[in-house]
Amino acid sequence: MNILVVGSGGREHAVIRSLRKNPQVQEIYAVPGNGGMAGEATCVPVSATDLDAIVAFAKSHPVDYAVVTPDDPLVLGCVDRLNEIGVPCFGPKANAAIIEGSKAFSKDLMKKYNIPTARYETFSNLQAAKDYVKSQPAPLVVKADGLALGKGVLICETTQQALDAVTDMMANAKFGASGSTVVIEEFLEGPEVSVLSFTDGKTVKPMVSSMDHKRAMDNDQGLNTGGMGTIAPNPYYTEAIAKQCMDEIFLPTIRAMEAEGRPFTGCLYFGLMLTKDGPKVIEYNCRFGDPETQVVLPLLESDLLTIMQATTQGTLAETEVKFSQKSACCVVTASQGYPLAYEKGFEITMSEEASAHTFVAGAKLSEGKLLTSGGRVTGTTALADTLPQAIQEAYRLAEEVRFENAYRRSDIGKRALEAL
Ligand code: AMP
Ligand code: GLY
Repeated sequence: MNILVVGSGGREHAVIRSLRKNPQVQEIYAVPGNGGMAGEATCVPVSATDLDAIVAFAKSHPVDYAVVTPDDPLVLGCVDRLNEIGVPCFGPKANAAIIEGSKAFSKDLMKKYNIPTARYETFSNLQAAKDYVKSQPAPLVVKADGLALGKGVLICETTQQALDAVTDMMANAKFGASGSTVVIEEFLEGPEVSVLSFTDGKTVKPMVSSMDHKRAMDNDQGLNTGGMGTIAPNPYYTEAIAKQCMDEIFLPTIRAMEAEGRPFTGCLYFGLMLTKDGPKVIEYNCRFGDPETQVVLPLLESDLLTIMQATTQGTLAETEVKFSQKSACCVVTASQGYPLAYEKGFEITMSEEASAHTFVAGAKLSEGKLLTSGGRVTGTTALADTLPQAIQEAYRLAEEVRFENAYRRSDIGKRALEAL
């Protein structure tokens, strides 16, 4: 069995490592992959968004199955294109990936099918957006409609900030075409939970819950990043809340997508906020989260490839999806300065023990040396019987990942410990 994995981050490294546990897996082609995966996958120097080149590669190589994990190729229709040439894929088609690709679409879907989310309105006209902002109490959240690398969400404490945000997006094209339509929504409060789920379009099987740490600095200060670390399971997500989410959010969403003629298959990510009025959807992602995947997949005891194929074949109901009872923590080591400007090209070294626990994201191989090439460089994951042990062990191992200008948050998991 030869598998093509589209993407290049720590998430893809975690997917590849889990796929490798299946003895039937022979070749894994990572498109484009990164230097830290060499040895576990063959890196193919083709961009994850160059669909023509991906299709050409899949035609000329023995590819039996493809796993597409980043948002942009999914939204562009990578799965549709690979299916056209007979390659089955893990991941949604473009008409279902829109659940992440357009916030206006996902908000309208939730409204139509009574799925709990923040109150909102969608605007393509600047004056109407401004009038709405003035009519609503602050704080407000202003979101660019399209994909904006996680940066298109502005939390506005005051009415003036919200007016500036809509002007920046709609009149000054701060997020390009992604911001020509904006969603303005009510500010929600409560602990955040990420729930990734496998689905074949009818059955939905949630994975173990997790918690991301999006801000760059300790105590959730500083700019939003792609994620500086994760823990799983999320202690705020009790069994009673999980049941409520299944009944009020997960199943209704899967059924809504089917009713709309957009059956969703692959991994659907529910970004939830546990408000005093119950769990509400903050966002959907049409894919595995990064760095959630780096704590969730190491806890998966069932075979990943078998589950992925079941989502493609519509047999998820009969397929076991079992997670360990342990806890996991992933600590991201980033380049100092991220998410703004940072230097790259520093050599990365790590102990053999740390290497076995580390997923590489922003690194490239040059003359046999692994050099930093991105903001988030590595994610180091440890499993243990309890969350405090997992956190301690993840930090012990992450400290063995060394390069000049390395930066880590020192409080990954602290908020979760407060809940215990
Ligand atoms: P997103 O890119 O949609 O995940 O948003 C980024 C972050 O903004 C989320 O993880 C939340 O912390 C925050 N956020 C988004 N929408 C809201 C909301 N309606 N109320 C409060 N915080 C929000
Ligand atoms: N960690 C959040 C995301 O992948 O969008």
